[in-house]
Amino acid sequence: MQHIVVLTGAGISAESGLKTFRDSGGLWEGHSIDEVASIEGWYRNREKVLDFYNKRREQASLATPNAAHIAITNLEKKFRVTIITQNVDDLHEKAGSQDVIHLHGLLKEARSENDPDLIIDIGGDPIHVGDLASDGSQLRPNIVWFGEPVPMIEVAANIVLKADIFIVIGTSLAVYPAAGLIHYTKEGIPKYIIDPNFPELTMGDDWTHIREGAAMGMPKLVDELLDN
Ligand code: APR
Repeated sequence: MQHIVVLTGAGISAESGLKTFRDSGGLWEGHSIDEVASIEGWYRNREKVLDFYNKRREQASLATPNAAHIAITNLEKKFRVTIITQNVDDLHEKAGSQDVIHLHGLLKEARSENDPDLIIDIGGDPIHVGDLASDGSQLRPNIVWFGEPVPMIEVAANIVLKADIFIVIGTSLAVYPAAGLIHYTKEGIPKYIIDPNFPELTMGDDWTHIREGAAMGMPKLVDELLDN
């Protein structure tokens, strides 16, 4: 059975009503990355960081998968599918995907600020200053902030190396090490990018660019791959 690896970013969740980061009106227009998504910002003002993620967590908990998330699950009729996502929503899992790697963490999880392995599922609930983990330290979002290591990047790179088909959906490929994953594919495999815009890194002629929204573009690509 051929192995398809799908790398997703905020664009796949846009049609589920969740904001992207760098489009106009995106999250980084209204917030400073340094203040709400960095370890320095956390130590400077925990409340501001918790508030930023509490709002996003509640929105994500109410969001539903769109046709793109569902189309990816349909690929499993004929292919082994692994999703590597930069997204911190759980829309892939809500759509029914099981093999999902979250490079940047998950909004529905909280962790001890002292022990990254002490993780609890909090669904859409808020975290407040004074909410403690079982080790007595402050709970924080289980999100990989700028300046923090990405624990799953090596696992993800080894999976991309094994891909027979590689699909990138809805990411500006602006953030490393995630963006660097596109260089781990075997020579000559089919590579697709679904995005209304044109991320620089995928300008090569070895990419098939589907310049559409994910909810339209991915179901069409899946039909094509299932019919081949
Ligand atoms: N369908 C497909 N792609 C879309 C859609 C859509 N409906 N709407 C927007 N896009 C594309 C944009 O053209 C852009 O290329 O999705 C991409 C979104 O890019 P970003 O906002 O930069 O999001 P992402 O690439 O996921 O950001 C990566 O940056 O801030 C960090 O940790 C955060 O995981 C995030 C990382």
